[in-house]
Amino acid sequence: DTPSIPVITVDGPTASGKGTLASAVAQALGYHFLDSGALYRATALAAMHAGVAETDEAGLAAVAAGLKLRFAHQQIWLGGVEVSDELRREDVGAMASKVSVWPAVRAALLQLQLSHRRLPGLVADGRDMGTVIFPAAQLKVFVVASAAVRAERRYKQLISKGISTSIDVLRTDLEARDARDKSRSASPLKPAEDAMVLDNSELSVDQCVAKVLEWWQQRNPFG
Ligand code: DC
Repeated sequence: DTPSIPVITVDGPTASGKGTLASAVAQALGYHFLDSGALYRATALAAMHAGVAETDEAGLAAVAAGLKLRFAHQQIWLGGVEVSDELRREDVGAMASKVSVWPAVRAALLQLQLSHRRLPGLVADGRDMGTVIFPAAQLKVFVVASAAVRAERRYKQLISKGISTSIDVLRTDLEARDARDKSRSASPLKPAEDAMVLDNSELSVDQCVAKVLEWWQQRNPFG
């Protein structure tokens, strides 16, 4: 572990806005940013391409261990192909939630996640950043928002990309994904005991960023 390098973890359920928040906080502080969900999504996409079933733990772990991922200029490359948009697809997210229940898959992605802890600091977003991957993080944020608010945000996002969908279907989907992410035995979605809970149902992105930066100023032991 490298406790001298600052880490802020941002965990929370799907469509809670944690990714937007975490990347804005990283930008404000000039820190690195880890979107850990992208690693599970990339594993899911690579498994779909390779025809590895969601029930095949060893096969999925091998896919995860062999990922040829590159993050550059806010884009994600998988084996030489730019996959940023593909990774955001609903079916890829649903598959990611299924592959991530397997302990061997989670173990295969551990080192890759830890390697993102580099100076001057890291903001990491996911489900288990504060509980499992970076338990010594100096600030842990757990983002929550009502299912209705999250379904509406996801709906607007998809519509703006020209993808037609319905709020009811999205809400049912995200409730199913929440239930799976919370009930799995390996690294379930839950706030760390020392997490600061941020309910952003009625807050703007800027208000959330300001709140997290204020918490960071109060606790950052690095000045
Ligand atoms: O944050 P996201 O929607 O991109 O994550 C997609 C799936 O990946 C999510 O349903 C559960 C899984 N995941 C995980 O198990 N652990 C993480 N740290 C991040 C994501």
